[in-house]
Amino acid sequence: MKPKVLVTRLLPKKAMEMIHKAVNAELNPHDRPMTRKELLRGLKGVDGVLSLLNDRMDAQAMDAAGPQLKVIANYAVGFNNIVVPDATERGIVVTNTPEVLTETTADMAWSLIMAVCRRVAEGDDFIRRRKPWNWAPLMMLGADVHGKTLGILGLGRIGQAVARRAKGFNMKIIYYDAFRQKPKVEKELGVQFKPFLSVVRQADILTVHTPLMKETTHLINAKVLKAMKKTAYLVNTSRGPVVDEAAVAKALQRGDIAGAGIDVFEKEPQVHPELVKCRNAVITPHIASATIETR
Ligand code: GLV
Repeated sequence: MKPKVLVTRLLPKKAMEMIHKAVNAELNPHDRPMTRKELLRGLKGVDGVLSLLNDRMDAQAMDAAGPQLKVIANYAVGFNNIVVPDATERGIVVTNTPEVLTETTADMAWSLIMAVCRRVAEGDDFIRRRKPWNWAPLMMLGADVHGKTLGILGLGRIGQAVARRAKGFNMKIIYYDAFRQKPKVEKELGVQFKPFLSVVRQADILTVHTPLMKETTHLINAKVLKAMKKTAYLVNTSRGPVVDEAAVAKALQRGDIAGAGIDVFEKEPQVHPELVKCRNAVITPHIASATIETR
């Protein structure tokens, strides 16, 4: 007998074919996330669940499944939606998807870096508004990326992939991580370890690649934003709550920082209304791993 597995959202065709071969899949019939009620009902009696990053898997959800639940397989590398101690207590294995999206997410961090520094989204929007324009020496000036100082917060897999790309831009790369990398890795990547606040103060572009945990919630807050250069840019492709979104909107509006590239939000799918108003922010709907190859 094949195990019964709840798949909380349809995945790409190839993945669905593999799933159907391996398990008895219970599917979410809708083209939207399951509501909490649907999730709790759908979990009843399953041996496994293939969850997404917006499905909260806590004690209530695990108990709704029942004692036969053996595995929660998260279709994401970040697993902050799963209360791992609750799973451990119940002997449930939790899996995630490291590696598959490392390079893809680093590409997106770089897309945001380039887009915000060179005002790509603003320029695109400008043209589409069909306002008359002429080339002008002072039109839509942005900031150079090459030769600048890149600050990386979190030098795990994705942070390292971002650093490798920065080499081509001839940048000085500084980083902070709770766990310092071995000298060999630092040398290969051409990165320098510095205390958190030094990275924040010295970076022209500050890019965040930490997991979401108690310790990293609002890691980027009003005080940190104040410590950044007024000419600096903030990029977040990690998890929304790592950054205080309201504080970022304020910093952008007051000119405490020059711009921001933000792919993840504190209360997804909502985006702070003040952030939406900021023309010096490039905001995308959590698509850092959204490529055909990766998905
Ligand atoms: C996407 O955000 C992921 O964690 O995989």
